[in-house]
Amino acid sequence: MKSKDFLSIKDIIPGEFINLIQTARDMKEHETPQLLMGKTAALIFEKPSLRTRVSFEVGIKQMGGTSIFLSNSEIGLGIREPVSDVAMVLDRLVDVVIARVYSHQSLIELSNNTSIPVINALSDIAHPCQALGDCLTIFEQKEQLEGLSVAFVGDGNNIAGSLALACAYSGMNFGIASPQKYQLNPKIWKEAQEIAQENNTNMQWSSNVKDIVSNADVVYTDVWVSMGDEDEKEERLSTFSSYQVNEKVLSFAKNDCLFMHDMPAHRGEEISINMLDHPNSVVYQQAENRLHAQKAVIRNIFESSF
Ligand code: NVA
Repeated sequence: MKSKDFLSIKDIIPGEFINLIQTARDMKEHETPQLLMGKTAALIFEKPSLRTRVSFEVGIKQMGGTSIFLSNSEIGLGIREPVSDVAMVLDRLVDVVIARVYSHQSLIELSNNTSIPVINALSDIAHPCQALGDCLTIFEQKEQLEGLSVAFVGDGNNIAGSLALACAYSGMNFGIASPQKYQLNPKIWKEAQEIAQENNTNMQWSSNVKDIVSNADVVYTDVWVSMGDEDEKEERLSTFSSYQVNEKVLSFAKNDCLFMHDMPAHRGEEISINMLDHPNSVVYQQAENRLHAQKAVIRNIFESSF
């Protein structure tokens, strides 16, 4: 990593991206080094979680460490006390902070007020651990990343942003089909485009699903209403209604395309009822790979000199 933290895909040293995926693959196949022996992780979760919480807790245990789960109702990040106070207390008591937050700014404040690593377990604009697990899944399935084309259909949200950056880093082309109003965060889109240009890959947006999905190696979607967007539910369900990924949409992509979804999935909304069970679906492999990717991140951080 460029620093002690992993808040964004951009924290990875560009040349190290593929090594991180390789490390995750190795750690999936071999015994886990006990790098967290005697160490404690604080898991701050302002939002609900299944995959992220379980995969972090299991991974930390497998690496010899202990985790303490802190829900929002317990610590009230920024409400019961300022984020900086939470950070400075945890800095003296634990060895790593893993946080899922409403505002990415809270991660930055945690980072700025600690000397220990802070890992992003999802924020409003980024979910880098998911994107790494996804790249591991694609790599396992296709034996390559460079040159593949990933098509994301739906909301230009945290999942899409981190995936766009991961594609740019790993030499995959990235296309996103979304309504004009729900395009990717402009700053992240610009960053992804700049990195893509250096790596000779394409970043493309269209409001037309077929334009983006045609000939893709991977078709990816996520919920239309993310955690924190619940107030906009009705408007979003109506705006996204023509962005459902179903068998017809998948037929625009390559025959051997992967269907991916970070889950939780809403059958009948962003996907048709049977998509998760489609023969091209790798969604449960994706969920498992969160564990291996996150262990690789922890290894990278704890083996470095930060
Ligand atoms: N975009 C979703 C991802 C859930 C893992 C959300 O933020 O709720």
